[in-house]
Amino acid sequence: MSVLTDSGLATLGPAALDEAELAATTSAALGVDVDLVGVTCMPVAYSSGSPATAGLWRVDVRADTSVWVRSYSYFVKLLRHVRHWPSLGLIPEPARQEFVERFPWRFELDMYDCGIGEVLPEGMRLPVLHQAHRADADHIGLWWEYVDQRPGPWWLADFAHAARLLGRLAARRRDGAEANHRLPEPWRSAPPGMALRYYVGNRVMAYCLPMLRDPQLWQHPLMAGALAESGDERLPYDLVDLGERIPRLLDLLDTLPQTFAHGDASPQNLLVPADQPESLVVIDWGFGGRLPIGFDLGQLLVGLAHAGELDADDLPAIDEVIFPAYLDGLRADGVMVDPEVVRLGYRASLVARSALAALPLEQLGDPLDDALRAHVLNRVRLTRRLVDLAPRW
Ligand SMILES: Nc1ncnc2c1ncn2[C@@H]1O[C@H](COP(=O)(O)OP(=O)(O)O)[C@@H](O)[C@H]1O
Ligand SMILES: [Mg+2]
Repeated sequence: MSVLTDSGLATLGPAALDEAELAATTSAALGVDVDLVGVTCMPVAYSSGSPATAGLWRVDVRADTSVWVRSYSYFVKLLRHVRHWPSLGLIPEPARQEFVERFPWRFELDMYDCGIGEVLPEGMRLPVLHQAHRADADHIGLWWEYVDQRPGPWWLADFAHAARLLGRLAARRRDGAEANHRLPEPWRSAPPGMALRYYVGNRVMAYCLPMLRDPQLWQHPLMAGALAESGDERLPYDLVDLGERIPRLLDLLDTLPQTFAHGDASPQNLLVPADQPESLVVIDWGFGGRLPIGFDLGQLLVGLAHAGELDADDLPAIDEVIFPAYLDGLRADGVMVDPEVVRLGYRASLVARSALAALPLEQLGDPLDDALRAHVLNRVRLTRRLVDLAPRW
């Protein structure tokens, strides 16, 4: 029988704990036996790009320790097998079948279980995982500590700090490092660049490039308007030219020193806690794998611009601080590599992954308004910045 009037726990679907489990989990979190006196569940407004994320919630609990009432907050993420992903139909067969069979949908939990937290350099940590609720074979509810984030923008010093720590992390996870033996499959024994090749092959080459090659795309009023407004009539040609060189770029990347990367180290996945702003809480390891050295700088650079939270014109200043900071981090953990090799790994993997995929191709059919016009223009400007980062090879 429920002791709470309306906990809302049922709205969490398969991620839901029952009240007894939540009371036990909260007792463990607080280190004292508690009774629940209130629970509030709120969906987190965030449109997840991950096919394995089925829902995100903040759950606030009020708990009676018999001395006083304490509050505790969880961040709940529902992982699903990607066979339940609503947009699965967008992937053509036979790639769809392979995607369903091979997508590591529980990777985030696997990374946690493999002890990645112990490899992180000082200044980085994982959020505490209080509960992994296996509701059925296809769903896991992850009950993380809720990290209250410092409000406000990322400053250049934040980017430099994050880049240095990512460099240290890459050094600790370089090819052959002890820490890698505990990694979950399929990553542990993956060939170099597997995650990048998979994404670029399916998303960039099979989906974006054919659309970018089609002259009709560029005649669409939104695209034509954005090109004219940015004064960048060359962009379509440069993109197609780049697209044709990407297979060679991927081959080149395979020849560089490899490290295990976070894989999606955008500021959105490096949380700055309000009460400890000098540290970073690292989340969302979904794209991780064996990747060229420098890889994690790419998402660090473009993540916020991609989300519309940073102007494309701010990228050069960020690029300038993150590169030396990453090198410094590599050196701090004993990796000496020619800086030009690291720069190549960073730039080339960024360009392969993001330059052709930054235009909002799916949104061109949406009702036309000023917000959409501005969005397309921003992505055109971002795309230009990315194309210009392409190394000459
Ligand atoms: N433990 C947490 N505490 C507070 N906010 C979080 C936490 N984990 C994630 N978030 C917020 O939710 C967003 C999405 O979470 P994330 O795990 O990155 O999901 P996705 O895989 O869909 O990107 C993050 O960018 C962050 O703003
Ligand atoms: Mg994320």
